[in-house]
Amino acid sequence: MLAYETIAVLKNCALRLGIKSAELLARMSDLYRSSAAIFELTLRHFAANPSVIMSQGIDVIMNSPSATNKPWRRRAGNHLMYDTMGVSQLSLMTLFFGLRESHKLLEIGSGPMRAGRFFILYLDEGNYFGVEPVKLATELGLKHEVGEELCATRKPTILEGSDYPFHEFGETFDYALSYSVFTHCPPKEITTIFSNLANCFHNKSIFLGTASFATDEEVIIDEEKWTHLPVNNYSFERIEREADKVGMKVQRFGKVFQEWFCAYFDGNDVAINGVEQASKVNWQAVLPKWQTPNEWTETSYKSSSVSTAQ
Ligand SMILES: C[S@@+](CC[C@H](N)C(=O)[O-])C[C@H]1O[C@@H](n2cnc3c(N)ncnc32)[C@H](O)[C@@H]1O
Repeated sequence: MLAYETIAVLKNCALRLGIKSAELLARMSDLYRSSAAIFELTLRHFAANPSVIMSQGIDVIMNSPSATNKPWRRRAGNHLMYDTMGVSQLSLMTLFFGLRESHKLLEIGSGPMRAGRFFILYLDEGNYFGVEPVKLATELGLKHEVGEELCATRKPTILEGSDYPFHEFGETFDYALSYSVFTHCPPKEITTIFSNLANCFHNKSIFLGTASFATDEEVIIDEEKWTHLPVNNYSFERIEREADKVGMKVQRFGKVFQEWFCAYFDGNDVAINGVEQASKVNWQAVLPKWQTPNEWTETSYKSSSVSTAQ
């Protein structure tokens, strides 16, 4: 289910558009996990005939004329930036943090393969592992972004689970990645992620992740549950504390769409060098221009939610 706040925004959108069907809203909140702006777009599209969505569910939303021709990409956020937000994750890990094809990578929250498609291609057979609770996102990503042939040769393993069950792979990982997971997960899940990662890491493993760091007070949307928009703003000190519990150090190294951090065990020269070099880059000067879908700019959520949903 969606976070309470998101449902409230959804209801607000619907009221502004004159849609009063509580049943429709209840159904949609189960069906569609995305930003408020996309809810609004969807509602606008179906305002004329809500019964369509009642009967056909998410397929009809995903195939609506106003959707992108790759609608599954919306599951990761801004579909116009899907390509570059995905490949930048591979670029950072290879150019700055030493990821080679022989390494084993665990992607936490692999979603619709925004980054996974590049890692699966790059890594040797059997070296990509993902954890993702939304089965449909994995299915769509594998089918449309990776394809049968690459799945057959690279043999990615993706586990459907929401309690970070990394031990179930029975592997020791060289790298772990979580892009846009700390932005949405409650505090206790950060503890779980570090603790479960430490159990399947060796002393040279590297964990790279993103967050939206608080500049002042932390903003935690829901202490207990995963949240969608707006996102959580955690203090860097919290991440440091959680890492420290499992004997890891953490450093930030820049904003490449989202703000990145690197966690590692003492004496990891690859991680230390990566942080040092990545911190020197003026990322805002080299990143592609941020594009915003038209339908997002049509809403009043442009500044309040969409801009945080990278
Ligand atoms: C904002 S998306 C980012 C997806 C991917 N990391 C990327 O960069 O495209 C966050 C993903 O985390 C997934 N997620 C939600 N709860 C999770 C959990 N408990 N464990 C792992 N992933 C989770 C969501 O379903 C979603 O696919």
